[in-house]
Amino acid sequence: MLKSRRIVLYFCILLIVILARNLFKTSTITQMSARSPVVIVGSGLAGLATGTQLVNKYKIPIVLLDKASSIGGNSIKASSGINGAFTSTQQALNVKDSPELFYHDTVKSSQGKGVKPLMEKLSEDSESAISWLQKEFNLKLDLLAQLGGHSAPRTHRSSGKLPPGFEIVQSLKNNLESIEKSDSGLVKISLNSTVVDVNLDSDNKVSSVAYVDSAGKTQTISTKNIVFCSGGFSFSREMLKQYAPELIDLPTTNGQQATGDGQKILEKLGAYLIDMDQVQVHPTGFIDPTNRESHHKFLAAEALRGLGGILLNPSTGKRFVNELDRRDTVTEAIQTKCPKVDNKAYLVLSEKVYEDYKNNMDFYLFKKLIKKITVDEFVSQFRLPISAKEVVADLQNYSSASSDQFGRSLVINTFGDNVASETVIYVGEITPVVHFTMGGAKINREAQVIGKDGNPLASGLYAAGEVSGGVHGANRLGGSSLLECVVFGRTAADSIANQF
Ligand SMILES: Cc1cc2nc3c(=O)[nH]c(=O)nc-3n(C[C@H](O)[C@H](O)[C@H](O)COP(=O)(O)OP(=O)(O)OC[C@H]3O[C@@H](n4cnc5c(N)ncnc54)[C@H](O)[C@@H]3O)c2cc1C
Ligand SMILES: *[C@@H]1O[C@H](CO)[C@@H](O)[C@H](O)[C@H]1NC(C)=O
Ligand SMILES: *[C@@H]1O[C@H](CO)[C@@H](O)[C@H](O)[C@H]1NC(C)=O
Repeated sequence: MLKSRRIVLYFCILLIVILARNLFKTSTITQMSARSPVVIVGSGLAGLATGTQLVNKYKIPIVLLDKASSIGGNSIKASSGINGAFTSTQQALNVKDSPELFYHDTVKSSQGKGVKPLMEKLSEDSESAISWLQKEFNLKLDLLAQLGGHSAPRTHRSSGKLPPGFEIVQSLKNNLESIEKSDSGLVKISLNSTVVDVNLDSDNKVSSVAYVDSAGKTQTISTKNIVFCSGGFSFSREMLKQYAPELIDLPTTNGQQATGDGQKILEKLGAYLIDMDQVQVHPTGFIDPTNRESHHKFLAAEALRGLGGILLNPSTGKRFVNELDRRDTVTEAIQTKCPKVDNKAYLVLSEKVYEDYKNNMDFYLFKKLIKKITVDEFVSQFRLPISAKEVVADLQNYSSASSDQFGRSLVINTFGDNVASETVIYVGEITPVVHFTMGGAKINREAQVIGKDGNPLASGLYAAGEVSGGVHGANRLGGSSLLECVVFGRTAADSIANQF
């Protein structure tokens, strides 16, 4: 009697446990589907920062879509670094800076265009963006550079061999990929997946996103939130023709994926595209002698001139500009003074520049973008219109002049006093290149996409990074693009989390 009772009791407990378990299971499933994944379009730094914040901080699931076959967009190419004002690195190096000073520089550079509250947010949040990268990913970001238009050294990069864009992208990518492998269901990354459309429901809320998969099939994902992190349009001749037709013949430093897909999709939905005609041209992209016609060019980093490089005019063999003037001034000098046929100048560097910038120089030499030759060989191989003796005189003049004839203030790493026709120099061919598109879909401080009436266009619709507009106005300061990716990517994630 007692025994059978005990058995019944045992079965009852078992039944309750099983029922409870199932109940718990279904409840987690309904919870998960209430939290439908956030769809992120683009895996550059903006997309990676958005995804990391959603997953690491809030445990909100994401689907990261990119039309390219690898992660990183243009962000992976960034070579100078990321801005931050009043960071621990600056304090350790005794650099005086403040968010106010950074804001002031940004507003000045924007020349009356753009959206000031976004510039304010960019500078206010810059310190926490840098410390987030340092703490969350153990990045050093211990070195500083002072780029054009900045009142203080505030562009951060890490000591070591990895360029900043590559280092940062790789860390965030590794984190998300390992979470994807962990089976938590929090992260799904789909490459070769081109987003083509966003659907809103009758309440003006995001309801789904359509993309074309690697097999060419259109797929739909139901979602309440989508963050556009799809980058700029520097590679698209079609869009340049529409917004900045004078630049249509220039090559670009951007990869072929930079075609402004996000701007187009968002415009169709009614987004306000701001400053679309503001396109940054960089004066020095390398002409690859083995592929001169390529639309894509490697960037000849500004540091090459900053560290002592000079520019010579192919039609005279002489210098023609203060190489350290503003980007637009140097570009204009190349376009008006150098031969119009190929719009190029020679970038000439000394042995000392090589030593000072060895890692990068070795890369350029390896890629055959720079040649190591004597002055004599330079004159004959590049068919200069003047003799080696005259070139030597010019190089010597640059090395010894007490005040530079073009007003260049920083004359370092010169060719030395004993320059001769046997002196070894480094020479590359450069041409102006389309580099960055300041304009894009207008956002607010919460990273919501704004409609033409100034209000958020739809609930659940966000943008961050180069696809957005208003952060830079007429001119982006070097280092502020990686920064906007981190600041507004994390902000989009915070906005989504707070809305749940
Ligand atoms: C050579 C070079 C050097 C630079 N150096 C610096 C620097 O030192 N500091 C700095 O701050 N900035 C620098 N910049 C600028 C900066 O790298 C970029 O502007 C910034 O990284 C843009 O980031 P993003 O995430 O917005 O876009 P991206 O990094 O370009 O990523 C966009 C991604 O979206 C994907 N995508 C586009 N359309 C679709 C679609 N329809 N469906 C799915 N996916 C799509 C693309 O494939 C791409 O992977 C540099 C740029 C270049 C080209
Ligand atoms: C993406 O496409 C490329 C070639 O177009 C292919 O090599 C690669 O395997 C594809 N990757 C995925 C994840 O489908
Ligand atoms: C040498 O430099 C001076 C000024 O520094 C300039 O006036 C002169 O024209 C230069 N000579 C050559 C050959 O470039």
